[in-house]
Amino acid sequence: MKKILFVTSEAYPLIKTGGLADVCSSLPKALTELGQDVKVILPKYPALKTVGDVRFLCSLRIDNHLVSIFETMIPDSPVVAWLVDCPDLFDLAGNPYVDELGVPWANNADRFALFCRVAVEVAMDKVNRNWKPDIVHCNDWQSGLVPALLSMERDRPKTVFTIHNMAYQGLFPMQSVRSLNLPGQLMNPNGLEFHGLLSFIKGGIVYADRITTVSPTYALEIQTPEYGYGLEGLLAYRSDDLIGIINGIDTNEWNPEIDPHIPQHYNVDSLSKKQLNKAELQRRVNLPVNDQVPLFGLISRLVEQKGIDMVIDCLPDMVELPMQLVLLGNGNKTFEQRLQNLARLFPDKIVIIIDYDESLAHLIEAGVDVFLMPSRFEPCGLNQMYSQRYGTIPVVRKTGGLADTVVDTLSTSLADDSATGIVFKEAHAGALLEAFKRTTLLYSDQQIWQQIQTNAMHRDFSWRNSAKQYLELYHNI
Ligand code: ADP
Ligand code: GLC
Repeated sequence: MKKILFVTSEAYPLIKTGGLADVCSSLPKALTELGQDVKVILPKYPALKTVGDVRFLCSLRIDNHLVSIFETMIPDSPVVAWLVDCPDLFDLAGNPYVDELGVPWANNADRFALFCRVAVEVAMDKVNRNWKPDIVHCNDWQSGLVPALLSMERDRPKTVFTIHNMAYQGLFPMQSVRSLNLPGQLMNPNGLEFHGLLSFIKGGIVYADRITTVSPTYALEIQTPEYGYGLEGLLAYRSDDLIGIINGIDTNEWNPEIDPHIPQHYNVDSLSKKQLNKAELQRRVNLPVNDQVPLFGLISRLVEQKGIDMVIDCLPDMVELPMQLVLLGNGNKTFEQRLQNLARLFPDKIVIIIDYDESLAHLIEAGVDVFLMPSRFEPCGLNQMYSQRYGTIPVVRKTGGLADTVVDTLSTSLADDSATGIVFKEAHAGALLEAFKRTTLLYSDQQIWQQIQTNAMHRDFSWRNSAKQYLELYHNI
């Protein structure tokens, strides 16, 4: 049995802005089921939604900050979470990273540097909990300084750094270094410096014993200039220690047979009942209730990464065909406005909900026929897997985890029952429109459509295999 400290800035359902949260609770759960002793450590934001006991564990002082650590459970799981409380840095309501206008909190460098330093104290058991991990598993830039700082300790745990998204690197002016009290030895271009800036993500990429990312295809992509954002060379240099392990999904949380957020439960043998969820969704969002028209869904952070601009460019052509679209998301204000303008022009076809709504996300997955995910890049992506489990056909661009988890519908893949979605290559609106047309054509043949749905629902996206790969990695370090 290994002791594993899982360092993350979000974990569902305590706090979530995206897939990172899903993974940082479902992977620790899966590892616990495999008999490992896992604790998750994350900041105690005011927005954190704890359930049940939260008990004080210990306090420590880092520079002039008084820090307390609390213990709670990740709800509905056997996994312990340690919450790092430092009110003078973390007492900001709302999103963990940005204010209500989407601007990063001005003191993010201080906030996450402090979080990393506390994680290191815990990892070295300087907090006297009589629990010293064998492995410290860090996730994304917010935890990037942990492998760097741990590299300077004797008798330290081994470190794993998982890249969930290269687009977010935690870059800050070099002046921050002094206020963060970071050791001078780390501050050079072979260390945390990146073109004159302090890079949190480099702390993980340079110093971790092993680097992982969340799909095999993305592991290759980030070693190229298009996806590496200037770190492709370093990643290629470390390629012997870099591995892509595809994310799993929480198959209890996302299960059409027991999902508490949907009115009609169903499975692969009662697929026709999915229709009732479609009708309920159409009613709920005020679209004409019609079981013949293909209903498309999209749930996402509204950012460049997700190809939202391509969707906006295509929609005026898409509405020429029989279709409806429900889009749930928030983020970039320009995208939000342009989408809302389109919804005003085509109220019978397009509904845009600017919100973050976990429950509605489940009803959309169950109620729509097709899920759109035309990402420009996608390290893994979870919704295309949720979709397949719900018999909802994903339309995806061939990149990252989307390429690894969706099989395009072709005569060959129909013949061997492997087809589970529609895959297109080029990142432009024309290619998306073609994929859209191909989808509506397939939808018009209900026999073929049901075959694709059945193939998709038979896929196993549980954590079983991937958690075992992580375990193997921990053992091999
Ligand atoms: P990313 O982490 O890049 O945002 P993923 O596909 O890995 O992309 O995960 C996104 C997760 O966040 C999914 O669980 C998705 O359902 C959820 N999500 C994104 N936006 C919303 C929203 N507006 N309302 C509810 N859930 C959302
Ligand atoms: C990131 C990526 C997404 C991935 C998620 C969880 O936010 O954008 O593709 O699924 O992390 O690993």
